[in-house]
Amino acid sequence: MSVFGTRPEAIKMCPLVKELASREEIESLCCVTAQHRQMLDSVLEVFDVKPDWDLDIMTPRQTLSTITSKCLTGMDEAIDALKPDMILVHGDTSTTFAGALSAFYHQVKVGHVEAGLRTYDKYSPFPEEMNRKLVSSIADLYFCPTANNKANLQREAITDGLFITGNTVIDALKTTVQSGYRFATEELNHLPYDEKKIILVTCHRRENYGEPMKNIFLALREIAERNSGVELVYPVHLSPVVREAVDKYLRGAPRVHLIDPLPADEMHNLMARCYMVMTDSGGLQEEAPALGKPVLVLRRETERPEAVEAGTVKLAGVVQDDIVTMAERLIQDKNAYAQMAHAVNPYGDGNACRRIADAILWYFGRGEKPADYLA
Ligand code: UD1
Ligand code: UDP
Repeated sequence: MSVFGTRPEAIKMCPLVKELASREEIESLCCVTAQHRQMLDSVLEVFDVKPDWDLDIMTPRQTLSTITSKCLTGMDEAIDALKPDMILVHGDTSTTFAGALSAFYHQVKVGHVEAGLRTYDKYSPFPEEMNRKLVSSIADLYFCPTANNKANLQREAITDGLFITGNTVIDALKTTVQSGYRFATEELNHLPYDEKKIILVTCHRRENYGEPMKNIFLALREIAERNSGVELVYPVHLSPVVREAVDKYLRGAPRVHLIDPLPADEMHNLMARCYMVMTDSGGLQEEAPALGKPVLVLRRETERPEAVEAGTVKLAGVVQDDIVTMAERLIQDKNAYAQMAHAVNPYGDGNACRRIADAILWYFGRGEKPADYLA
């Protein structure tokens, strides 16, 4: 039973739900917590996945404690009713942690998809670094996107049940990005892709709430005001905290398009056509390099060092002047841009779901152990 609740978990788990359903020996169940409501439903629609169970927990401005406690209570009922042999959780959200803890309370095996990412700073990203560490203590199987993620777990004395699979987000991208794609969001068909540099922006992380988010938005404003050759496109997350900060510091700036969250297929195709990406998102740090787009990360650190090492991702931090300087370098200096704009795939070859399904079948004595994915 795959358990997920937020937009990024859904984008990365829907391809797996489908892969599991395609295997004769597996009954693939899907339980959503709906920690996100609209942003989750949009992904389920794009991938045509229909949940077997829906906890429907989201409330406006929800706290970490309410998400966790509502997930735990709801999961009791779902596990009792659906009786899964294994629960799959993804990544590092509150849904992930509560899903794994609930599985443990019911003595159900746990597979952790996107296991082994670390910053080693328990407050950054907050609460995600702690969520993924706690899930590592509970899980039975670990599906690591990269060799580096596996090494992180081995350093924590986790030695059994480790697989390097690639990241399922690359599987998702393979199905969504199409040449000649026409956007349902009409505004996106008319962006000046050839004449101007389209910068795709997202920002939502809890540890950026307050001063860092203010600095980021003032930096974006400055970049737009000083560079007439750019257009910023920012699909704004539905979090009221984020939307308030956007209204206060960014709205009204020239050349900034503030739009609603995009369906995943629209987002991926926009990324494929943009000039560069500025983001504090985890998922975008994996997708943009695969599409050959430079990424400036609006955070102090990253748990995804692979693309930094490959040269397509740079940490821009959360200081206004630093962000402006780094962005303007990529906008104005062709060589600096060319050095970052090459496609790299440290996060997978699009076959992560197949490896994960094979590993689960092997675990239950029904097939060969899959070989590790080596980038
Ligand atoms: C959550 C995850 C974060 C992940 C992010 C992806 C936790 C603690 N955080 O953060 O790891 O990177 O999702 O986007 O698990 N809202 C809506 N509709 C939606 C979604 C959100 O209205 O479809 C609003 C609600 O008011 C909600 C708020 O956004 O209370 C915040 O959502 P929440 O899931 O608590 O936190 P995120 O910042 O989205
Ligand atoms: N995404 C999307 N629509 C948007 C913004 C993001 O479909 O308007 C996708 C994005 O391409 C990536 C995922 O959502 O696949 C990232 O989710 P998010 O940034 O919310 O969370 P994070 O990855 O930081 O946990």
